[in-house]
Amino acid sequence: MERTFVLAKPDAVQRGLIGEIIVRLERRGLKLVAAKFLSVSRELAEEHYAVHKGKAFYDGLINYITSAPVVAMVWEGPQAIAAVRQTMGATRPVEAAPGSLRHDFGLSVGRNLTHASDGPETAATEIALWFTKGELIDWQRPVDEWIFEGN
Ligand code: RTP
Ligand code: MG
Repeated sequence: MERTFVLAKPDAVQRGLIGEIIVRLERRGLKLVAAKFLSVSRELAEEHYAVHKGKAFYDGLINYITSAPVVAMVWEGPQAIAAVRQTMGATRPVEAAPGSLRHDFGLSVGRNLTHASDGPETAATEIALWFTKGELIDWQRPVDEWIFEGN
């Protein structure tokens, strides 16, 4: 089973969209493994977005992500990385598919509400960056046999 890291970014928290993000992932059948509400330090932001250092939008991105609290989460399921990115929609909200979160709630790439890991290596790195092992909860969900074939 795959795990992926998800952030409800400061704009999502400010706009009261934490529940909307969680409900869409739950409704899809994904399983929550970890969650916490926190203010992001500059150090954590810079490590999380190290891949974007030097890009024109980098300073704005660090200011954005440290500007207000976020909700950090880990979600699990078959092909969870691709499934979550599909639910979020394309990075630029005006290019996101109708029905996706960024389409339905966003307009601007610099206020695109969520982050989700883009591959297995980044998922592993990001989960380890934001959570300790003890914060990742293994739990049984009997309904999984009706969601995950071959479970
Ligand atoms: P994320 O990492 O946040 O899940 O988003 P993503 O993979 O869809 O996009 P990525 O290319 O990794 O960019 C990270 C975040 O940087 C901001 N961004 N701004 N102004 C711009 O051109 C621009 N490009 C990217 C967005 O907040 C994007 O989510
Ligand atoms: Mg990314």
